[in-house]
Amino acid sequence: MCGIVGFSGKIPAAPVLLDGLAKLEYRGYDSTGICTFDHGEFFLTKKQGRLSNLAEATDDGKNMPGEAGIGHTRWATHGAPSDVNAHPHMSWNGKIVVVHNGIIENYLLLKEMLTEKGVTFQSETDTEVACNLLAWCYEETGDLRSALLRALDMIEGSYALVVMCKDVPGTILSAKKASPLIYGFGKDFGFVASDVTAVLRYTREVVYLDDDEIVEMDAEHVTFLDRQGNEIQKTPEHVDWEISAAEKGGYDHFMLKEIYEQPTAFAKTISPRIRDHHIVLDDISLDEEYLKKLSRIYVVACGSAYYVGCVGKYVIEKLCRVPVEPMLASEFRYCDPLCDENTLVLIISQSGETADTLAALREAKRRGARTLAIVNVVGSSISKEADDVIYTWAGPEIAVATTKAYSTQLAIVDILALYIAQTLKRITKEEYDTILTAFEKLPEQISEILTEENVEIIKQYARQFHQVEDVYFIGRHVDNATCLEGSLKLKEIAYIHSEAYAAGELKHGPISLIEDGTLVVSVATNGMLFDKTMSNIKETKARGAKVLGITNRTHAQRMLDTVDCEFVIPDTEPILQPSLSVVPLQLFSYYVSLERGCDIDKPRNLAKSVTVE
Ligand code: AGP
Repeated sequence: MCGIVGFSGKIPAAPVLLDGLAKLEYRGYDSTGICTFDHGEFFLTKKQGRLSNLAEATDDGKNMPGEAGIGHTRWATHGAPSDVNAHPHMSWNGKIVVVHNGIIENYLLLKEMLTEKGVTFQSETDTEVACNLLAWCYEETGDLRSALLRALDMIEGSYALVVMCKDVPGTILSAKKASPLIYGFGKDFGFVASDVTAVLRYTREVVYLDDDEIVEMDAEHVTFLDRQGNEIQKTPEHVDWEISAAEKGGYDHFMLKEIYEQPTAFAKTISPRIRDHHIVLDDISLDEEYLKKLSRIYVVACGSAYYVGCVGKYVIEKLCRVPVEPMLASEFRYCDPLCDENTLVLIISQSGETADTLAALREAKRRGARTLAIVNVVGSSISKEADDVIYTWAGPEIAVATTKAYSTQLAIVDILALYIAQTLKRITKEEYDTILTAFEKLPEQISEILTEENVEIIKQYARQFHQVEDVYFIGRHVDNATCLEGSLKLKEIAYIHSEAYAAGELKHGPISLIEDGTLVVSVATNGMLFDKTMSNIKETKARGAKVLGITNRTHAQRMLDTVDCEFVIPDTEPILQPSLSVVPLQLFSYYVSLERGCDIDKPRNLAKSVTVE
């Protein structure tokens, strides 16, 4: 939530900041701003709306002099999106400018204290309070580092805080707590940013900052400090992503590009973990001794990552015979969860920074559970704090609506289930071999779904149905879990009201909402439950519903006899079908959203990384 970038170098800073912000816009996009520093003066421009407004106002950065500067793209928390609430904020005395990602929880108290001292405020933001607090501490100490340390002592909440001071030309001072921050560097320049994508064009050498760490940099120097102000050593890491990974590469939208990247991302995620037809997880510490005592697994996550957990419940319980409870991270913390040392809490997060998920992870640890994170972003808070981490190698996911991260998370859950089942000898060698063989074919089968001919079918359905206002997704077992994700996608990017129900549950209430022309999307891939789902489809059709069915080749003809239109996916093992059935649902949402003229990569009111509770 919110993207920040700071640059100090020997070239004009503003175009570099705008370029970095363009890469970070997925984190928030309701207002933007940059401030540069030149010959003792700050140059500040802030604009409500998209980055293009800021680019226009600054003539693509050309009218902002200076070789050091800070920039921000905002997802509003305190105060509406407006020019005045946009970052950077400047202190009342003009000495300090600040950009911030996170929430200053005690900002009202601090504001009151500063107001009593005669400090004045322009905006409604918590960030301006942090800025003025810092300026006030600077007046008292006369030293920027000491002022920052003193201000941080008084601040409660989360922050990636990036600061420039009029008296310290070219220097950018930054602090991190529970919001991501990296330092990137090269010859004659340094960056701080929310995410490596902002700096990839200039460097791949980065340092991931930990909580309660501070970095002070200019074009040529860098110093890392702990919260007491002691110098510390940090080890740089090399990022091996291609720059193109964070660019659209000829696709109209990142979401479409990321849908098409799924076969590769899936293969990249699973291949290092399968050797000689065996799952190998030697980088985590779940050994036989621990697994034998395992009494329960919680899968804790938000949004789509939570829906991965909903599929995971069926897969892990079936293969491992261990109780699995998927829980929304925002609920887990407050539900007095039953955790002890024999509980495994599986934390799933693309960004590794989702505030609710991070808080749940900490709660699980506090209660003595073992934690294992499935994360995409290397060096993120969740990856660092969990006892073990398994990375999804999906590459940068830029579209707000997740696709390839979802698929690769699901792949890891499948791998984990097979690994636990095999270690505990809960499945036979034959079952293990059959499922693993089918699993290894999934990347190829996802590619089969993405052929031009198939995508054309989905486009047609999108043209046919894009004007509907309500959609009901129904399915049973893992198909129900897939429906949850399909429904979220449609809400998120096409702004269509949609709900997902277990097909058998419809008659207990929601069927009263079905009327002439209501669209029902039904996923039915499971042989054992196929006829039951067909009966549920017929119940909706009897009440006027139009039904789009998603099924596999085995059931294609029988489904076609019942539904209005269908999309056919390849056959695989029943518990693996979700990896295939989600793909047409992603495409359907994408093309419906396109037909409706929505902003697909940056849907209204949302942000990619949700770092507030
Ligand atoms: C999915 O399309 C959403 N953007 C959202 O539900 C997302 O999955 C959720 O916010 C969790 O994010 P995370 O994976 O980064 O923790």
